Amino acid sequence: MSNNYYITTPIYYVNDMPHIGHIYTTVMADVFARYKRLSGARVRFLTGTDEHGQKIDKAARGQGIEPIDLADRVVARYHDLWKTLEISHDDFIRTTEERHKRSVAQIIGRITAAGDIYKGEYTGWYDARDEAFVPDSQVKDEHDIESGHPVERLSEPSYFFRLSAYQDRLLAWYRDNPDCIRPRTRLNEVMRFVEGGLRDLSISRASLGWGVSYPGDDQHVVYVWLDALTNYISALGFGAEDEKLYDEFWPATLHLVGKDILRFHCVYWPAFLMSAGLPVPQQVFGHGWWLQDEAKMSKSVGNVVRPDYLINRFGADALRYFLAREMAFGQDASFSDQAFLERFNADLANALGNTASRTLSMTGRYLEGRVPAEVAEGPVPKAAEEAVGRYRERMEALEPHRALEAAWQLLAAINGHIQERQPWALAKEGDDGREALESTLYASLEGLRITSLLIEPFMPGIAEQLRLQLGAQDLPRNLGDATDWGGLPAGTVIGKTEPLFPRVDIKAFLKEIAMETPKDGAATPTEPVPEDTLLDIEDFAKVKLVVGEVRKAERVPKSKKLVRLMVDLGEAELRQIVAGIAEQYEPEALVGRRIVVVANLKPAKLMGVESRGMLLAANLEGVPFVLSPDGEVPPGTTVI
Ligand code: MSP
Repeated sequence: MSNNYYITTPIYYVNDMPHIGHIYTTVMADVFARYKRLSGARVRFLTGTDEHGQKIDKAARGQGIEPIDLADRVVARYHDLWKTLEISHDDFIRTTEERHKRSVAQIIGRITAAGDIYKGEYTGWYDARDEAFVPDSQVKDEHDIESGHPVERLSEPSYFFRLSAYQDRLLAWYRDNPDCIRPRTRLNEVMRFVEGGLRDLSISRASLGWGVSYPGDDQHVVYVWLDALTNYISALGFGAEDEKLYDEFWPATLHLVGKDILRFHCVYWPAFLMSAGLPVPQQVFGHGWWLQDEAKMSKSVGNVVRPDYLINRFGADALRYFLAREMAFGQDASFSDQAFLERFNADLANALGNTASRTLSMTGRYLEGRVPAEVAEGPVPKAAEEAVGRYRERMEALEPHRALEAAWQLLAAINGHIQERQPWALAKEGDDGREALESTLYASLEGLRITSLLIEPFMPGIAEQLRLQLGAQDLPRNLGDATDWGGLPAGTVIGKTEPLFPRVDIKAFLKEIAMETPKDGAATPTEPVPEDTLLDIEDFAKVKLVVGEVRKAERVPKSKKLVRLMVDLGEAELRQIVAGIAEQYEPEALVGRRIVVVANLKPAKLMGVESRGMLLAANLEGVPFVLSPDGEVPPGTTVI
């Protein structure tokens, strides 16, 4: 069997900022990638963003910006967040990249050559206000459930993929490879769905401009899921001159996805690949949902936990640990501050942090900070061997929460041993107690060194700190022979002891959060601004803010949100400014109003209309409140 291991996350939509759900999938993929690297595999780990399609187009239009500008902004946020969370991906694919578009054209070329594409008519529910098709599942009583807009049946020409022809081959694939979809219950769901019969799939849109141009017919763009799924091979250079990575790493070892998108990965994707004559992935794992107050966390429901607060306050590793430990991999779990804090105190501050600080401070106090002679007998070496075995077994079985349980059993054994031997009492016995004191502390120190390896895929930062404190930073770091007992040499000088996780006062903390979080819990409390993002006053002075008076205002045709304003800025001519405020303000009501304008912005076109400036508005969860000076200030007055 090949030693190569290719793991992927879904590529995330860029119509909203990342939340705990996206973080979960990515952290878990990172855990497996790190585990496999430490176990000696050649790992490739891919994540990225899904930037085309109606959702993104609509979100960008709503903000009055181009889709690519929205994508750039959200992608920057993903990059920052993955860095903070120590995500060790090897590549980040964006579907707007040329390398990706080329692969999409290639796969469509192959599917076409296989005779699996024909031209037909796509009929669906069309929202004339948003100028977009709405999925059947989102329509009730001829209205879009999300927006409330009326919808009508409409047809447009479209290319179709003969998905119906793949029913038998897909079923044979599931039957012959019962591990290709995990957990098992999900395999059964997918099989039942496919057994129910498959309809051909529309794979192009004529009514949408934001997507990969359909090869050979630029009146169409490629359906966003065919575009998106191809990322898994485009990032390996499929269809490029150099297909080295593709040859080495395809088929993927594991596509890790949420259960919401299992069908796309287990039905459409393998069918596309089969048609294109390409190997199908080895395994797709559909994990469960993080729920909050019994509701699925999602943007539309508006109860998404923003993670920044937890990360700032408790560190990335604590969040990584909680996500991996709290959710039985594959099932749903609830996200609550209470559960997070309890685990933080019990598992991290207490079981891990205290065991480490007790052991290390006693080594400092009683043994002059030096590791004593090795002992191989006793309960701790045995517990370590068992924990390592169980840990590996559980990781291989894709039960990371169980693997952590095994590591914590080792910590419990270390602690139990300390309690039983009472090194503080042995220290008082002088020479008589010396041997027992040394053997107890060796067992604890060495047990902690092995623990540091087991927790490494989950908490890389803390694992490193623990090794530094043990003086073990230069010792081999892997999940193979480095986990054998006895790796910590006698005489090693331990590092400086510092608490890994200071305990939290849960009551006081929950009170603090309640005061800072809005009632619906949707937003995060204001975060402290990191020093390096603070502006110099000179930079701020570059922004030319002036008072303006609206002279004319009208809606931008065909747009729900945009208003075209002609504004007096005290200049010779009126300025044309386009603002996304039509849903809250009647244009007529704006005429005569004094506003504040950024006067030196580069001009931009919004739905074809040029905007030469931007008005300032407070933004309350997407709802704008236009700012005005408090008094009769003439147009052109500088704002500082
Ligand atoms: N762009 C598609 C995926 C294309 S893959 C070829 C997409 N993007 S998404 O931004 O909506 O992300 C969906 C994924 O985010 C889920 O499959 C899951 O991995 C993760 N999660 C989003 N919300 C989640 C929870 N509440 N709980 C757990 N994971 C969830 O779908």
